[in-house]
Amino acid sequence: MSGIDLLAPLQCASATYPNPDYPIIQIRHDLAEADIALHGAHVTSYRPVGEKEVLYLSPDALYEKGTAIRGGVPICWPWFNAHPDNAEMPAHGFARNRFWELTGASESNEGAVLTFSLPCNEQTKELHPYDFELTYKVAIGRKLELRLMTKNTSLTTMPVGGALHSYLAVHEISRACVEGLASVDYIDTVGSESMQRQQEELLKFDQEIDRIYFNTTAAVSLETGFHRLVVDKGGSDSTVVWNPWIEKAAAMRDLPDDGFRKFVCIEAANARADVRRLCPEGVHVLSQTISIQSP
Ligand code: BG6
Repeated sequence: MSGIDLLAPLQCASATYPNPDYPIIQIRHDLAEADIALHGAHVTSYRPVGEKEVLYLSPDALYEKGTAIRGGVPICWPWFNAHPDNAEMPAHGFARNRFWELTGASESNEGAVLTFSLPCNEQTKELHPYDFELTYKVAIGRKLELRLMTKNTSLTTMPVGGALHSYLAVHEISRACVEGLASVDYIDTVGSESMQRQQEELLKFDQEIDRIYFNTTAAVSLETGFHRLVVDKGGSDSTVVWNPWIEKAAAMRDLPDDGFRKFVCIEAANARADVRRLCPEGVHVLSQTISIQSP
């Protein structure tokens, strides 16, 4: 049966989402099913009907205000990873760490569309001293379409970085493979020094991978062992690929020690030189579309 349920607090505690004060929107459409937490406007599950789950969600993820959910699609905004000038700021910005508002929901034969917004207030201004409108449109159907729109409503130019940080489920990391980045330059951020390199044809995983690929707007594909995913994007000239591997995974309290075997992050990013500078009234749309390639 189709439907969009905003499960009320106290009704939503379940084996997957144990915190009853943590609203989860569950979409059950004839074409696809999805769960979205209001905290972070965070898509935690997406599954086209008849297919395997597309996103990885850590069984140890924490559902508490102020902590990002490990898995699904965290929204990193308005900066990517460490703040450019202030190491005390939260990694990946603050959009993933606070409750958003649900501003619209509709459904049709094609799927369901939900719209969220993150209010700008005195707290956000302490972290990012600008006025903004931030809206996020999530369309669920045969594809998962994510569109993050930033409007600068300040009187000064506003920098906007970030990423749609999708955790894509794989059957076994050593057999996963990314295609579509051949010959693209990247910065390898593993270790203390950033090294610039060029990607060979295929990207496989046998160690920690933390790379920012530059000057690439192309879609990439991921062989997951369940299916082949196509990950397309817009408003992004940088793509990040990340897997923490053994030691980093063991140090994360919200990921099981062997959890790294079960996902690859492919992120539509605005990282480093790809940070956008929005003039007053300027708009930037960062988008990502994830679909299962037909055989
Ligand atoms: C990736 C970064 O995007 O996110 C990594 O490239 C980082 O460096 C990873 O470790 C996870 O970040 P976090 O803050 O969610 O643990």
